[in-house]
Amino acid sequence: MPAVSITPTDAALGATVEGVDMRTPPDDATIEVIETALETYGVLIFPNQIVTPAQQVTFSAALGPLELTANIDARLDGQPEIFVVGNTGAKTVTFAPKAGSDDLEWHTDHIHRSEPSRASLLYAKEIPEEGGDTLFACMYSAYDGLSLEDKEAYGRLEAIHSVAGLRAYLRDQAEEDEYDPGRQEAMPESVTWPLVRRHPRTGRPALYFGAKITIGIRGRSREDGLRFVRELTAHATQPAFVYRHVWRKHDAVLWDNRRALHAATPFDMERHRRLMHRTTLRETEPVA
Ligand SMILES: [Fe+2]
Repeated sequence: MPAVSITPTDAALGATVEGVDMRTPPDDATIEVIETALETYGVLIFPNQIVTPAQQVTFSAALGPLELTANIDARLDGQPEIFVVGNTGAKTVTFAPKAGSDDLEWHTDHIHRSEPSRASLLYAKEIPEEGGDTLFACMYSAYDGLSLEDKEAYGRLEAIHSVAGLRAYLRDQAEEDEYDPGRQEAMPESVTWPLVRRHPRTGRPALYFGAKITIGIRGRSREDGLRFVRELTAHATQPAFVYRHVWRKHDAVLWDNRRALHAATPFDMERHRRLMHRTTLRETEPVA
């Protein structure tokens, strides 16, 4: 195994990993280093990776089974495991708020599917001169920051997730015409998961929800549920829990969807191009 160095950021999560070359699939020892670091730091930044789509897919698949995006138009031609994100592909997919809005779409990937994603790998091919950052929020910290009473109460709650919540958001941000995440593949109407989940590697509790995709709390009125989600989002994404990734070309960033929320920030789509390739690892452990 090549020497791998891991340098944590000074935020609640995130670390830079050097000594891993994504052009070749990782050996077993490297996989173990990556998986341990992924749980420890939540977000891993691999700078200066020059990879083809096929190499990204092979590297990702060595970590576990992959999931395809539901939107067939956003799959890369010839390499369907790659989800093309940005404003240069066949479909504009940014999940970012419109310019001037701070209504971020904090989420964890595929929470609204019956098999969620455990981790995602996003590779920067083209980045805008400004904007288009990705924010990550640590859901261990968000849970740890609750009062004892809230920890107990939230441990009994179940949250309801649906692509309808994401559609409504994209409609508000006027992106819906270009991209509808559930248009081409049947989605369950909604999926219910415990609000607090334990990380399968450590048993550590984390909040598990999204700002828009979570449409309610079981047993509560729609209004109450949405208010709760709004307040929980404000708590869980406070600056002390957040790492901001300012992309550089050829960064590859792997994050743990069991432990981190993420959100895209806007960029000027008229002036700038942003092209990212995502591979998505399927959840392999029960959420509940
Ligand atoms: Fe995402």
